[in-house]
Amino acid sequence: MAPCPLQPTTLSALARPAGAALHRSFSTSAQNNAKVAVLGASGGIGQPLALLLKNSPLVSRLTLYDIAHTPGVAADLSHIETRATVKGYLGPEQLPDCLKGCDVVVIPAGVPRKPGMTRNDLFNTNASIVATLTAACAQHCPEAMICVISNPVNSTIPIATEVFKKHGAYDPNKIFGVTTLDIVRANTFIAELKGLDPARVNVPVIGGHAGKTIIPLISQCTPKVDLPQDQLTAVTGRIQEAGTEVVKAKAGAGSATLSMAYAGARFVFSLVDAMNGKEGVVECSFVKSQEADCAYFSTPLLLGKKGIEKNLGIGKISPSEEKMIAEAIPELKASIKKGEEFVKNMK
Ligand SMILES: NC(=O)c1ccc[n+]([C@@H]2O[C@H](COP(=O)([O-])OP(=O)(O)OC[C@H]3O[C@@H](n4cnc5c(N)ncnc54)[C@H](O)[C@@H]3O)[C@@H](O)[C@H]2O)c1
Repeated sequence: MAPCPLQPTTLSALARPAGAALHRSFSTSAQNNAKVAVLGASGGIGQPLALLLKNSPLVSRLTLYDIAHTPGVAADLSHIETRATVKGYLGPEQLPDCLKGCDVVVIPAGVPRKPGMTRNDLFNTNASIVATLTAACAQHCPEAMICVISNPVNSTIPIATEVFKKHGAYDPNKIFGVTTLDIVRANTFIAELKGLDPARVNVPVIGGHAGKTIIPLISQCTPKVDLPQDQLTAVTGRIQEAGTEVVKAKAGAGSATLSMAYAGARFVFSLVDAMNGKEGVVECSFVKSQEADCAYFSTPLLLGKKGIEKNLGIGKISPSEEKMIAEAIPELKASIKKGEEFVKNMK
């Protein structure tokens, strides 16, 4: 497929895949008809994410669900002069209609962190929100790709999985924990350090999505970068704590929303491109995995028409990256177990 020139109005840069030998353009496929739902669409992430999706030629129908404000958000977005139709759905009784016929569901519903909180502190509130929403997905759009943004991702993906299993609709290739913001941050910070164009930098980030479980593979960065040990340690720590950097700067007004919306849109566009038949689309995501010593792990994934086509695995890494993986496993296992037990104990 010939790459088409980047159109400023299509936000094509958002479709940048994570892999090295990949094209950056949108698919020219005729099937640019993705039906996408955003659950939690009125929130800090949901609104700008819905805006980016509405602005994409890949999306033909955008359905927006929340427990508050969706009529207003939908009316506002629907005036934008792009093809996607927009409809708002408010409250649980309207959720089934929001989901019917969807190809992709993105879930940023739930409470964000305040200063001093870890992502795990959000578990009590967000676990039941994600369980309820994914149960509705399993019933009303069992074939859709499910992209969970709600934290703690290290637990919400096991929750989504167990809920889909309960409904007999589980497909491990279609449930994704959105960790793209970690990759976006790694690319930006490394580019800053080395004076590179961030759009040309690609750092895979593996593991999970919380503190030490976020493992940037700077040894695999393209272009190749050489950093002295002190800079390597500092930038790795900054990538791991970048979410907290934003939480602190927002001083009680929430966590990353705009950069998260960008990252969520990038992930959805990559997924839709791959569903449309574009080849070589790679993104990292926290998924069911056999690549490490725990049941879920983020690694680069080759995406295809039916979700994950191939897990590309961890690849060749440095001894310090190997150590980071070993140190992350106990925390990952505990978060995964917590998610699984939550669903087991649900009435
Ligand atoms: N994966 C990541 O990299 C990443 C990055 C940043 C934030 N997050 C997470 O994303 C989530 C949302 O963050 P935010 O800043 O948009 O929060 P927010 O409070 O601004 O928005 C959350 C929205 O969810 C809605 N909501 C709550 N309960 C719901 C339910 N049962 N059904 C549908 N909608 C419901 C709220 O009404 C609100 O509109 C948080 O859990 C946050 O930790 C994840």
